[in-house]
Amino acid sequence: MELPDLSSACLISTPIPRSLLERSRVLVVGDVMLDRYWFGEVGRISPEAPVPIVQVARSEDRLGGAANVARNIVALGGQCSLLGLLGDDDPGRCVQQQLAQAGIRDCTRREADRQTVVKLRVLGRQQQLLRIDFDGPSRQSPSIAGDDDLRQLISVHDLVVLSDYAKGGLGDPRRVIAAARQQHRPVLVDPKGEDFSVYAGATMITPNLSELRLIIGAWRSEEELETKAQALRQALHIEALLLTRSAQGMSLFDAGGVRHYPAEAREVFDVSGAGDTAMAVLALLLATGIHVDLSISLANRAAGLAVAKLGTATVGYEELFVQ
Ligand SMILES: Nc1ncnc2c1ncn2[C@@H]1O[C@H](COP(=O)(O)OP(=O)(O)OP(=O)(O)O)[C@@H](O)[C@H]1O
Ligand SMILES: [Mg+2]
Repeated sequence: MELPDLSSACLISTPIPRSLLERSRVLVVGDVMLDRYWFGEVGRISPEAPVPIVQVARSEDRLGGAANVARNIVALGGQCSLLGLLGDDDPGRCVQQQLAQAGIRDCTRREADRQTVVKLRVLGRQQQLLRIDFDGPSRQSPSIAGDDDLRQLISVHDLVVLSDYAKGGLGDPRRVIAAARQQHRPVLVDPKGEDFSVYAGATMITPNLSELRLIIGAWRSEEELETKAQALRQALHIEALLLTRSAQGMSLFDAGGVRHYPAEAREVFDVSGAGDTAMAVLALLLATGIHVDLSISLANRAAGLAVAKLGTATVGYEELFVQ
């Protein structure tokens, strides 16, 4: 399976026509979360313990994890369906409400013995004071969808994204990858964990620095990194490995060698969700048939824009293309 390569002559400053993005259909499969923010004022220290008291004035819920990838895709005008598991609880209902509001096709399922993953941030005076995670026991779901449903769903999309946060919510990645490849759909994987062999056969994996280090060990030079990254890529029969390197941008390892994409200098406010924004833009552009090099450059730019915003953020069409 080949990555689409239709417009290599296109320059990063040339906007992709909206109509092209609107026709593209991406299926996101993965660990769905709810990002909850409590904003308040801090006036005094608690008499019970040396901690600040936050007077909560406002609460905000945002789609997180795989749902944040989906939200970033529709924010740029693309079509997106989300397949994932939720708990049969209030946060689960809240996620489904937000999916409907955002115009994301909701293929999530609420399960009675599952707890929806919630990441609650408490902010006072524009500053994060505490994060509280409701993760529940991460039960590995044996199956995210039946074979026929999965096949049918993949058939009406151009590209599949696996957004793995190791919460056990995407079933066996191998099943999704096999089904997508059977239908000649590219599969992009945002990986997690100690065993990447479950992603074998994917089109592209996009680990960050710590995720890759866990698999290939530390490296002392760029040459050593390239040797190890290429060995991993070949062992897993993956076309491309895109390493996201925080403030250093991204590096692509593929059959042609390595290419670096420096990050655009930004004022960094909040890096959470930058990886999701990068994956969303990359997936949407590749689904549209944009050349991989241009798609990565724009994903890099979009992620750089997202880190200048509070919390899990999206980047709009005007922002990305009209500077
Ligand atoms: N400090 C920064 N300055 C500029 N760009 C950044 C910065 N941090 C992240 N980015 C952009 O975001 C991309 C993804 O960031 P990173 O490698 O940290 O992914 P991640 O750890 O998966 O993120 P996430 O917090 O969403 O999981 C980078 O490749 C880069 O384009
Ligand atoms: Mg990430």
